[in-house]
Amino acid sequence: MHDDSDQLPVKLWGGRFTGKTSDLVDAFNASIDFDRRLYREDIAASIAHARMLAHCSIISTDDRNAIISGLETIREEIASGQFDFRVDREDIHLNIEAALTERIGDPGRRLHTGRSRNDQIATDMRLFARAACDQILVELHTIRGALISLAERETGTVIPGYTHLQRAQPILLGHHLLAYEAMFNRDSERISQTRVRINVSPLGSGALAGVAYPIDREMTANELGFDSISTNSLDAVSDRDFVVDLHSAAALAMVHISRLSEEIILWVSDEFHLATLDDAFATGSSIMPQKKNADVAELARGKSARVIGNLMQSLALLKSQPLAYNKDNQEDKESLFDTVDTLVISLRVMSAMLPTLAFDAEAGAVAAVANFALATDYADYLSKHGVPFRDAHEAVGKLVLSCEQKGQRFDELSLEELQEAHQAFQADALEIDLSTSLNSRDIPGGTGPVAVATALKAARVRLDSDELKKDEAT
Ligand code: ARG
Repeated sequence: MHDDSDQLPVKLWGGRFTGKTSDLVDAFNASIDFDRRLYREDIAASIAHARMLAHCSIISTDDRNAIISGLETIREEIASGQFDFRVDREDIHLNIEAALTERIGDPGRRLHTGRSRNDQIATDMRLFARAACDQILVELHTIRGALISLAERETGTVIPGYTHLQRAQPILLGHHLLAYEAMFNRDSERISQTRVRINVSPLGSGALAGVAYPIDREMTANELGFDSISTNSLDAVSDRDFVVDLHSAAALAMVHISRLSEEIILWVSDEFHLATLDDAFATGSSIMPQKKNADVAELARGKSARVIGNLMQSLALLKSQPLAYNKDNQEDKESLFDTVDTLVISLRVMSAMLPTLAFDAEAGAVAAVANFALATDYADYLSKHGVPFRDAHEAVGKLVLSCEQKGQRFDELSLEELQEAHQAFQADALEIDLSTSLNSRDIPGGTGPVAVATALKAARVRLDSDELKKDEAT
């Protein structure tokens, strides 16, 4: 079990072993290829642990100083790509600990006093997840800003509103964009709430039962920026609920990205013809010279699938594990890294693409009133003139049918023709149009121009206040 080159045992846990680990097991067991990404977190937690051990007189201050400067050197080596990660040293914890001992000797061998890789990895993962939340919050803030700016730019642009993907009623484009801003705002809330649950320190829980040294758990928690310490060591080392939480919040955010992508794909199609993609955010076809494809939006839509898959993986990973730590949990990493990376890049590319969309306001206004999209307004007119809404609905429904048969639009009808449909129609019914339709919906949450302008201002204020909160936090 000894490594010829450095005299350190190859396995830091190798005392009770006499035989060599199979190469196949080394390869299967090792997580260093992916958990090396946690080196900053691992070193930060080790430095906090060493400081605390010295503070509690469990190690000497000389040992502490040697450990800290050794760890800082290793951090620099890793950051500059000069560190030799070894698969036979299994994971990030053992790679760093063995390298530390190679550099500083005995003090390095004291670092693992009063801790276990089980509370170590739980701590590293929480530090990673917390930083990921902060990064995601920045990206969510950016996409909300992009949606709000686009809505501000496109004041007055009208598009058809759909239900069942059938033209339903005219809406302001700004109203549509603010619907997505509302989704991403909820995502921000969810990520912030997730961050609160993440930010609890498991360090000091040991392997499973707590540690047999008079350690100061509050001290390491404070140093690492945790809000509190975990209250049950068994739960603390095996709990990956926060991983599921983050996958879940991320999956829902990806679903929102996917829905927005779908809108864009539809809008830029010839069938909808409501917007055009900028060349910077479109791709061509290798065979069809005329094509300009919305690959970016399609890929963002497609990537939501893997994040949803990662959520399922995280749930399945936990469901059969008895207390406390099991090696299964090593499988929590790649999927979480993937989820965070995928969400961040997707938010980033969507935020960059949104301002480049060119909307065809004229086409939008025409499409918004086509296909009898003002039918509800005619029914509302009758109802406001005393006709029970159900009767009004039926009369206008019949009018739609007869217009369809005659190839007429509503705005081509004379007052007499309207009155044939229902006596309650008066001359002012001829004024029903796109703007009366929109103006009539000036209620809170509605698509009326005043309501949307108010909502837009409120969204901008909320975004700016989130910015302030963020600045205060940092
Ligand atoms: N690489 C392991 C993981 O990712 C670290 C903890 C290992 N603990 C153990 N007792 N084998 O979960």
